[in-house]
This record gives sequence, structure tokens and C-alpha cells, in this order.
Amino acid sequence: MEDTTISQHDGRKKMKDRRFVTLFASIPAIAAILAIQSCGGVGGTTLDNGGQGSVPAEFLALLSDEQRAASYLTPTDCAGCHGDEDGSQHADWMGTDHFESGITCEGCHGPGSVHKANPSKDNILTLPKIASPTVCAQCHGKIAEEYKFSQHDKLVTSPVERAITGPESYGRAYRCIACHGGTFRTETYDAGVDIATMPAEDIQAIAEGIINHAPHSAPCITCHDPHKSTGYLTDDGDEAQLRHATFNTDTTDVGPGTDVGTYQTFDHLCAQCHNGRGVDPGDAKLQSSTSRFGGHHSNQYNMLMGIGGVEGTGPVERNTAHSNAPGQCSHCHMPDGRHSFTVSFNACVPCHTETDAANRVTSIKSEILSGMYALRVRLANWSIDKFPGVDGNEHLWEYRSYVPDPYTAADQSLIPIEIKRARHNYHYIIESGDFGVHNGPYAKHLITVANAELDSIGAAMPTTMGSVSQAQMEAVIQSDVARISQIDREGMD
Ligand code: HEC
Ligand code: HEC
Ligand code: HEC
Ligand code: HEC
Ligand code: HEC
Ligand code: HEC
Ligand code: HEC
Ligand code: HEC
Repeated sequence: MEDTTISQHDGRKKMKDRRFVTLFASIPAIAAILAIQSCGGVGGTTLDNGGQGSVPAEFLALLSDEQRAASYLTPTDCAGCHGDEDGSQHADWMGTDHFESGITCEGCHGPGSVHKANPSKDNILTLPKIASPTVCAQCHGKIAEEYKFSQHDKLVTSPVERAITGPESYGRAYRCIACHGGTFRTETYDAGVDIATMPAEDIQAIAEGIINHAPHSAPCITCHDPHKSTGYLTDDGDEAQLRHATFNTDTTDVGPGTDVGTYQTFDHLCAQCHNGRGVDPGDAKLQSSTSRFGGHHSNQYNMLMGIGGVEGTGPVERNTAHSNAPGQCSHCHMPDGRHSFTVSFNACVPCHTETDAANRVTSIKSEILSGMYALRVRLANWSIDKFPGVDGNEHLWEYRSYVPDPYTAADQSLIPIEIKRARHNYHYIIESGDFGVHNGPYAKHLITVANAELDSIGAAMPTTMGSVSQAQMEAVIQSDVARISQIDREGMD
């Protein structure tokens, strides 16, 4: 473990060196920042525009006409009204690297002279527009460029749109928007606003702001507090203004049956969203909740920790070395602080060599894929036997919403608990999306348990496994993943 930390430190030094390759590659901007860093703003000009030499057009485009005509002041001007008492933006900001480096309020909020003369939300850049990564991209160009490759930059529109048409259900009750529109978290949980009692119009307004002005699942400020050093450190001990912990092995708040208000405030930077929504694998829930898989597409933390599958009665190996890696998700998905959130094998060193990690991935994926394919064939065999002559009978083991058109889902009371347990584990593994890499022993255990359930009701084994290639198996499984995503985008029932 110690070695990991050391090698990451080396990676980080390299990061620091390339940090100021800006997206809007503007040489004066770089020069100005370097000037502030090296000589503390000597010359009296560098702070004039919030810490930059020149302001990119993409940033100016975010400002109102009124503000675009304003000139730059200093943080002291802002402090006059936005306080110097503890907890004010100004006091917080003085404890950050931005302060140390001469990055002022107006670096993010734009010029403030008009606002100072006549304070209004219309003449200073604020939410929703300030959630745009364009604000940070002015200076963190390299990171912003990486981020653009990630799904966090994109928005799955329908769960956010639904908070406009159905604020009570999709905003307040299910809170789809809290995981799909990170800005909602900023304006509610992070700002101490109680979602249970806030007016429905406010929920709708936030959703509209996200769709119209910063359409991203998780913009920069979902993970980073723009104003303060938080004390939540990166896996190598650096302050990065993170809003939550990167490491947490307590599963209480995301355990089976957890209430929506609890699992979404879970103190983990990634698992506040990447958790299985309190997925409950108990028989009572499997019997009563038959529309779709309760763990959603987001059960990666559950998989990493080994909770939330149907586990049978034998001993379960839950926590592997991966759940104890420092920084957990960020360790593997953000090597060298990379913001595309894609994994590369240098993150696996020194626990594995790169080659060993690559080989193990190939081998566990192939094992889990064939296990899943066989499971799926057995489920189909069972439903063909159970519903002879019925159109589309190979699909009738499925949750109600997942039976493809034009077939009619089976009456769920005709589906025995053994099938319900097995299909829970099938969906648990495909939704996690890592095919055994996060937690091989737990994934294998869930497949074993599912097969034991199917054995107990005599579901036929597949007969043609030998003639199906790995690519064919993968295509079948991936088409299930894509189909279910599509169904979830389209409707809730
Ligand atoms: C003369 C007092 C005053 C000064 C100076 C001042 N502000 Fe404000 N600011 C206000 C008031 C009052 C509001 C609330 C306006 C409203 O709600 O309509 C406000 C609102 C804001 C908002 C929007 C808050 C929100 O709820 O969305 C931001 C951001 C902001 N100010 C930043 C700044 C920055 C940056 C500076 C320095 C350039 C600054 N202010 C200087 C008084 C001031
Ligand atoms: C690194 C960029 C950045 C810097 C620097 C920064 N802000 Fe902000 N500020 C933001 C963002 C983003 C938001 C909206 C998200 C939030 O409130 O966390 C915001 C929100 C605000 C708000 C509204 C808060 C609310 O609760 O509605 C005020 C007021 C404000 N900032 C003032 C300031 C002042 C004063 C300074 C300088 C002392 C400053 N900011 C420095 C990015 C920044
Ligand atoms: C005007 C330029 C500028 C803007 C705009 C800006 N930053 Fe920075 N940021 C800097 C500089 C300079 C540093 C210090 C670099 C260093 O530590 O070597 C920094 C440091 C940081 C750090 C590291 C903090 C630490 O303590 O090590 C984080 C995280 C960060 N910025 C996030 C953001 C986010 C998020 C935004 C947008 C809301 C943003 N920044 C906007 C220039 C900027
Ligand atoms: C606990 C957080 C959380 C909640 C609550 C949540 N989601 Fe998701 N959802 C996610 C995450 C994370 C993903 C992406 C997982 C992945 O890509 O592997 C996702 C994926 C999806 C997808 C598939 C996206 C794609 O790329 O195809 C759809 C559709 C979706 N969610 C709709 C909804 C709807 C509708 C609701 C509310 C009923 C909802 N979600 C509630 C976290 C959540
Ligand atoms: C999903 C969460 C998440 C999002 C979104 C995100 N970051 Fe980060 N960021 C992190 C984490 C975690 C780290 C620490 C990574 C590590 O372990 O080195 C980090 C580190 C940083 C650092 C410090 C880098 C260093 O090496 O000191 C900066 C600067 C930064 N992020 C800026 C941004 C900007 C700009 C954006 C938007 C374009 C952004 N981040 C979006 C999670 C996030
Ligand atoms: C605000 C909620 C939220 C937070 C916080 C968050 N994510 Fe995500 N993440 C999502 C959503 C929603 C998607 C899917 C977006 C889509 O399908 O377009 C996603 C997608 C991803 C993907 C791509 C999945 C795919 O199918 O391609 C990875 C990898 C990922 N997130 C890792 C992380 C990591 C690592 C962290 C913490 C550093 C994190 N996420 C924090 C909501 C979040
Ligand atoms: C031990 C390293 C490791 C850890 C820890 C880890 N992941 Fe992964 N993750 C991977 C690998 C490897 C893949 C598979 C990528 C592939 O299919 O090629 C993956 C896949 C994923 C996917 C699916 C990506 C896709 O393209 O569909 C998501 C989402 C994800 N991880 C999120 C997370 C989250 C959230 C956490 C923390 C709860 C986490 N991961 C922890 C290594 C890790
Ligand atoms: C903190 C140390 C650590 C890190 C970091 C780590 N691993 Fe592992 N990994 C382990 C250990 C320990 C095992 C179990 C070894 C055994 O079974 O002999 C393991 C097992 C595996 C397995 C086999 C799972 C199974 O059950 O067959 C795969 C696949 C794997 N790791 C992939 C990765 C990948 C890919 C990365 C980087 C993205 C990574 N690991 C990062 C420690 C780590």
C-alpha cells in the first residue's frame, strides 16, 4: 500500500507540471497566472481581472449583457458585503489554493463593478450558469478537456426533465435529479436546503436551470466546493476542495432498504450517486417490487463492498483488496488525477503489474460473462417450459418493465421466488458494468447462488454453451444492458 502512495506522488508531480496547458490556449493567460504564482501579483495589474491575463470568449458568453459592461474590482470589494465572518465565501476562500495563487472571486464570478453599485443576481455570474465547466476551464484546461470525454459531462435528460413535469415524484420522492443533475445537490444537500419541504417550483426551476444552462450529470462543482478547503483529502493526502470522502467502508447508509433521503447523502464522493439506491434483496421486497431491478444502473459501490445481492445461506466473501484500495473508486478511475474517469492499468501497480492486471481482467470478464450467459439461458428455459405456447415466452422470467415489446409480461405472482432471486443477481451483475473486476469473489458467489436457486426448481441447463463464442455472449448481455437503459429513459412503469 505504501508503495502505491509513493508512485502516485510521482504521478501527481507530473500533473502539476502540465496543469496549466489551458483549453483556450491563451499565452497571455498562462503568463499572467505564472506571474501571480511566482511574484504574488507584483505590478498591480494581475488581479485586475480576477487573476487572469485575458478572459476567454467562452466565459464572457456566460455573462449577462449588463455584467459584460462591468469592470473588475478586488476581493476586498466583495468582502464588504459577502462577509468576513466565519463561513462567508470570503473567509472560506482565504483558506484555499485559489487565494494563495491570486485567483479571486471574479475569476469565477466575472467582473463586479456593476454588481457592487447595484447588487442583483442578474449582474453577477451565479447558479445555474456558473455550474458550467467553462468557468473552471479558463484555467484548468487540461482537466476540463479530459472531463469532456466522460459521461459526467453528458446529461441523461429524461430523469431531469421529469422533475419539471413531475416534481413531487421524480424530484422529491425518487430524487432521480439528485444523481442525474449534480447541480441539484449543490443547490439542496450542499446548501442545507431540505428537499422534503422545499417548494415544488424550486425543484422545477433547478431542473430547468440544469437543462438550459449546464446540462451535465456531474459538473466540476458537484465534486469540488468552489470556495473552501474541506479537509476531505485525495488518496495521497492532498487538499482538492472535495465535497466528500473518497474512501468509506461503512455500508450502513447505503445498506438494504435504506431510505432515499439517506443513501443520497452518503459521505462518499462517488457513492453518493453510484450506489444501488437502498436495493433490498429480501424475499418480501423481491415479491412486492416486480416492475424493475431495485439497484438501478448505479450499484457500483454495493458491488465493490459486496452488499445487496441475494446471498443464500453459505459464507460470503464481501470485502476484497479492491474495496480497501486508498481512494477506492478514484484510485482506479482517476489515476494521476485524470478526469475522464476511465481506468488504465497503471492504476493497478504496485498491487499488480500492468500485465497481470490486464490478464486478470480478461480472465474474470470471460468467466463472469459465460456464467451470466448460462444463467440467462436457464432463466429463458424455465419460462419457455412454464408458459408453453405463449408469445415471447423466453422473456417471461423478467421484471415486468423489462419484457420487450410487443410481448406482455407474465403475471408476477406466477413467477416463483427462486426465479426472482436469480434474476435479481443477474441484473445486479450486469448493471454494475464491471463484469467481476470490482469484486470477483462476490460476483462469482452471486452466480453460484442464482444457479442453486434454479437447480432447486429444475430449470434446464443450457445445452449449446460450447458452440457460443465469447463475443456472442457479450453481445447478448450488452444488448440487455442497452435495452434496459432505453426502457428507463422512456418510462417509469
Ligand atoms: C454592496 C454590497 C455588495 C457587494 C460589494 C457585492 N455584493 Fe454580491 N450581492 C449583494 C447582494 C445584496 C446580493 C443579493 C442580490 C439579490 O438577491 O437580488 C448579492 C448577490 C451575489 C451573488 C448571487 C448569490 C445568489 O444567491 O445567487 C453572487 C455570486 C455575488 N453577490 C458575488 C459577489 C462578488 C463576486 C462580489 C465582488 C465582486 C460581490 N458580490 C460584491 C451585495 C453585494
Ligand atoms: C473557483 C471559483 C469561485 C471562486 C474563486 C469564488 N466563487 Fe463564489 N461561487 C462559485 C460557484 C461555482 C458558486 C455556486 C455553487 C456554490 O454555491 O457552491 C458560487 C456561489 C457564490 C455565492 C452564492 C452562494 C449562495 O449560497 O447562494 C456567493 C455570494 C459567492 N459565490 C461569492 C463569492 C465571493 C465573495 C468570492 C471571493 C471571496 C467567491 N465567491 C469566490 C465559484 C467561485
Ligand atoms: C482564474 C483561474 C482559475 C479559475 C477560473 C479556477 N481555478 Fe482552480 N486553480 C487555479 C490555480 C492557479 C490553482 C493553484 C494551482 C496549484 O495549486 O498549483 C488552482 C487550484 C485548484 C484546485 C486544487 C486545490 C488545492 O488545494 O490543491 C482545485 C480543486 C481547483 N482549482 C478547482 C477549481 C474549480 C472546480 C474551478 C471552477 C469552479 C476552478 N478551480 C476555477 C486557477 C483557477
Ligand atoms: C442513487 C443515484 C441515482 C438515482 C436516485 C437515479 N439514478 Fe439513474 N443512474 C445513476 C447512475 C450513477 C447511472 C449510470 C451508471 C452507469 O453508467 O454505469 C444511472 C443510469 C441511468 C440510466 C441509463 C443511462 C444511460 O446511459 O443509458 C437511466 C435511463 C436512468 N439512470 C434513469 C433514472 C431515473 C428515471 C431515475 C429516477 C426514477 C433515476 N435514474 C434515479 C444514478 C441514479
Ligand atoms: C466526479 C467527481 C469529480 C468531478 C466531476 C471533477 N473532479 Fe476534479 N477531482 C476529483 C478528485 C477525486 C480529485 C483528486 C484526484 C486524485 O486523487 O488525485 C480531483 C482533483 C482535481 C484537481 C487537483 C489536481 C491536482 O493534481 O492537485 C483539480 C484542479 C480539479 N480536480 C479540477 C476539476 C475541474 C476543473 C473539473 C471540471 C472540469 C473537475 N475537477 C471535475 C473529482 C472530480
Ligand atoms: C452527481 C452524481 C454522480 C457523482 C457524484 C459521480 N457520478 Fe459517475 N456518473 C453519474 C451518472 C448519472 C453517470 C451516467 C451518465 C450517462 O449515462 O450519461 C455516471 C457515469 C460514470 C462513469 C461512466 C459509466 C459508463 O457507463 O460509461 C464512470 C466510470 C463513473 N461515473 C465514475 C465515477 C467516479 C469514479 C466518481 C467519483 C470520483 C463518480 N462517478 C461520481 C453520476 C455521478
Ligand atoms: C480495482 C480498481 C477499481 C475500483 C476500486 C473501482 N473500479 Fe470501476 N471499474 C474498474 C474496471 C477495470 C472496470 C471495467 C472497465 C472495462 O470494462 O473495460 C470498471 C468499470 C466501472 C464502471 C462501468 C464502466 C462502463 O464503461 O460501463 C463504472 C460505472 C465504474 N466502474 C464505477 C466505479 C465506482 C463508482 C467505483 C467505486 C464505488 C469503482 N468503479 C471502483 C476498476 C475499478
Ligand atoms: C490495493 C491493491 C490493488 C489494486 C490497486 C488493484 N488490485 Fe486487483 N487485486 C488485488 C488483490 C489482493 C487481488 C486478489 C489476488 C488473488 O486472488 O490472488 C486482486 C484481484 C484482481 C482481479 C481478479 C478477481 C478475481 O476474483 O478473479 C482482477 C481482475 C483485478 N484484481 C484487476 C485489477 C485492476 C484492473 C486494477 C487496476 C485498475 C486493480 N486490480 C487494482 C489488489 C489490488
